Amino acid sequence: MFDVSEIRADFPILSREVNGKPLVYLDNGASSQKPEVVIDAITRAYKDEYANVHRGLHYLSNLATEKYESVRGIVARFLNASDENEIILNSGTTEGINMVAYAWAMEHLKQGDNIVLSVMEHHANIVPWHFLRERIGIELKWVDIDEYGNLNPQSVIDAIDKNTKLVAITHMSNVLGTIVDVKTICHAAKSLGVATLVDGSQGAVHMPVDVQEIGCDFYPITGHKLCGPTGSGAIYVKAERMEEMRPFLGGGDMIKEVHKDSIIYNDPPMKFEAGTPGIVQTIGFGVALDYMMKVGLKNIERYEAELKDYAHERLTALNWLKLQGQPDNKGGIFSFTMENAGHAHDISTILDKKGVAVRAGQHCAGPLMDHMGITASCRASFAFYNTKSEVDTLVDALHLANDLFG
Ligand code: ALA
Repeated sequence: MFDVSEIRADFPILSREVNGKPLVYLDNGASSQKPEVVIDAITRAYKDEYANVHRGLHYLSNLATEKYESVRGIVARFLNASDENEIILNSGTTEGINMVAYAWAMEHLKQGDNIVLSVMEHHANIVPWHFLRERIGIELKWVDIDEYGNLNPQSVIDAIDKNTKLVAITHMSNVLGTIVDVKTICHAAKSLGVATLVDGSQGAVHMPVDVQEIGCDFYPITGHKLCGPTGSGAIYVKAERMEEMRPFLGGGDMIKEVHKDSIIYNDPPMKFEAGTPGIVQTIGFGVALDYMMKVGLKNIERYEAELKDYAHERLTALNWLKLQGQPDNKGGIFSFTMENAGHAHDISTILDKKGVAVRAGQHCAGPLMDHMGITASCRASFAFYNTKSEVDTLVDALHLANDLFG
């Protein structure tokens, strides 16, 4: 597998203290930490290799363009897309899904059509579809999870009807860690002529992804959750779907010619990348994906599975802690509430005093919170640089919270 202490040495921030205690960073669902190679790449890109891309004929512009463009191929490799032209570089999943809403769905859906979603979706995979509901009168069809947090793929397939144009489903819940059988869903939807979007914000962080095997049309990912800089990301769009999309943002770079009365667009994928992009962020994103592939995506998956099993064992032993959802197939994301311990914010404040960083609140998943009948939870989300001893520190800190409030 790999030696976690060697991995940890790659991440400078992991050796700092918080509130006089060693940092235990368990807020990876919100954003991951960055290895030194990424930080160095960002510095180098600004210090030695910086210019705008696609525009100049001078040395630095060509160098920056080459570095920026090489990321398309890295993302294609990371997601196993068959062609790097199926990768649109952007600022992350939120932009990716909004682009699908405006560039594809706005063109192909009409009043009365529907989109099938699960109640576990993140707001980024809900709000753009609400825009279409408000603007063109489409319907959102919601599929429930069971009491353990499992999403039965058949219930998603059963929700598809003659008016369904898109199934938009998370690969992995950012609240419960549920891993969804997206392959079964996408293949069934395809056979019914329905397009599919798989939100890869969390899934791509924790397991190897093969978009060809999954068979989806759209697969957005976010750089800052994948050890890369904020404001970076990409979306895989199957070539046929890219042909069906109209440009969303207009501006430089996405056109070949502009005249007073006419324009000629650039070829895809650049047709969907308007204006000066996040050049340095994207270069850092490429270095981050290369780093993760070097560590090994299967190694990461195996190591995290072990860590998750250990955390599950330790957390379920706390009879005053309520784990929200215990799905059969899940990654290292645990949401919990405590019977007597007040609000999730109070618990996270106690944990913080012990150096343990978790997220507390709604987790940008309003429909899921409604479904579970809670207004907030604490969430501990693990990465491949976390350790079993950090799980122990979390449990000790939870004991402290329970002693204080319980
Ligand atoms: N989407 C991020 C999370 O789940 C911010 O925390």
